Amino acid sequence: MSKPRTYLTTPIYYVNDRPHIGHAYTSLAADVLARWKRLDGHEVFFLTGTDEHGQKVEKAAREAGLEPQVFTDQVSEHFRDLARRMEFSNDDFIRTTEPRHRRACQALWTELARRGEIYLGHYEGWYAVRDEAFYGPEELTERDGARYAPSGAPVEWVREPSYFFRLSKWRDWLLRHYEENPDFIAPASRRNEVISFVRAGLQDLSISRTSFRWGVPVPDDPDHVMYVWLDALTNYITAAGYPDMDHPRWGFWPADVHFVGKDILRFHAIYWPAFLKAAGIEPPRRIFAHGWWTNEGQKISKSLGNVIDPLALIEQYGLDPVRYFLLREVPFGQDGDFQRRALVGRLNGELADGLGNLAQRTLSLIQRNCGGRLPEAEPRSEADRAFLARHVEPLPEQVRLLLDEQKFDAALSVLFSAVREGNAYITREQPWALRRSDPARMACVLRVLHDLLRGVATLLQPFMPGSMGRLLDQLGVPQEMRDIARLGAPLPPGTPLPPPSPLFRKIDEIP
Ligand code: MSP
Repeated sequence: MSKPRTYLTTPIYYVNDRPHIGHAYTSLAADVLARWKRLDGHEVFFLTGTDEHGQKVEKAAREAGLEPQVFTDQVSEHFRDLARRMEFSNDDFIRTTEPRHRRACQALWTELARRGEIYLGHYEGWYAVRDEAFYGPEELTERDGARYAPSGAPVEWVREPSYFFRLSKWRDWLLRHYEENPDFIAPASRRNEVISFVRAGLQDLSISRTSFRWGVPVPDDPDHVMYVWLDALTNYITAAGYPDMDHPRWGFWPADVHFVGKDILRFHAIYWPAFLKAAGIEPPRRIFAHGWWTNEGQKISKSLGNVIDPLALIEQYGLDPVRYFLLREVPFGQDGDFQRRALVGRLNGELADGLGNLAQRTLSLIQRNCGGRLPEAEPRSEADRAFLARHVEPLPEQVRLLLDEQKFDAALSVLFSAVREGNAYITREQPWALRRSDPARMACVLRVLHDLLRGVATLLQPFMPGSMGRLLDQLGVPQEMRDIARLGAPLPPGTPLPPPSPLFRKIDEIP
């Protein structure tokens, strides 16, 4: 039987600057879901990459005194480095300056033109280079004689010949699509925002620029380069092989989830499905817009000098605590505040004292008192059976349902309640006191704890691949038994377990 397929994407990142916590966050969420789906038996295609064209990148290159291609080669490498350092499991890394992407963009344009969806006109209006977005006058605020977009980006007046996409004609189709596919935009609050925006009316969209050169040339009219958002969004189908629909990867389309930040939802939830529909291509299944991080209560900005460097964080706290914290601290979809105190608190409390300690106590007792071999599961008491049935056996299905809705924090919360139950169980049963009085019962108690730890470690792998891999090694779970389907298959008693070593290092100082 062929495996179900899952296609997940991150936004492609502008190469005007180094990666920061926001980039790491979007990709981390996508990575956790990708890893989860693979563990759960899916064939996964997980895509990330860099967005290398447009006025903003061209300007950054000029400021660096480099040719745009040389500049983007350098900055794009920082994003590939971040992916390696964060252990993102992406199957491909797309760069919009690659030939395959230019081909896909031009093919999509040609198809839209062939279907009468594009016409030549003149654009006159406001443009924010920082957002690479057009704004209506009613969206702007005025300060000290200058005008600003809702994002705070300054706007400039643009007047140039431009091709337009007939976005207005897709308004009713979009509204119907949102209505008929309630899961298309998540979370629900964001969905409502998009619906009100579209209801208020859509204007045709300017999709080419003539005042700079750094972009994909419009087919048959190379004075124009494509609007960077049309170019960028197309990456999601380029990587699936478009325009070659016989490409082996085309079977992954439509994407299951496009992960994006709330600031770029409009492009993904309005323009993108309209472009696709207009070209006769199926729209993606779901777009999830997450919230934004502030740093200790302050908006993160280069000018404030409070940008959080993900590599420095990993250096200081270790990769898995950072991965854990980012998805545990804030319900996915809401804004959150990054506080070191909270990170250290969770690392020391939940990871080191909670999970690390339970594993260490259980495994060193097995090492010392059971000859370092996995104890028999039976005879198990009724209470043990009830304990496992209540706190461990339902976990895979609970996590599956939560992750299908991208509720990462809730999934972690369920798994760490099981850890708390495990710690309460070990305190209640006191296996260390049973060594002389009732060694058979001691072995049973340790086996219950082993089963719990195995379940939790297996299900936590997508979040903390490195440390949960080490925990599964210590638990004696062979590689081929680490997926969700195999969780029901018991490990044979007598399996030798290596001597345990601590999983998480506690941090003493709170800076
Ligand atoms: N290039 C476009 C995306 C094109 S996708 C077809 C882009 N790039 S970006 O580099 O500016 O931003 C990428 C992501 O980082 C966005 O999803 C954005 O929401 C996210 N973040 C930027 N700052 C952030 C925070 N402070 N907090 C959380 N995420 C933030 O947009």
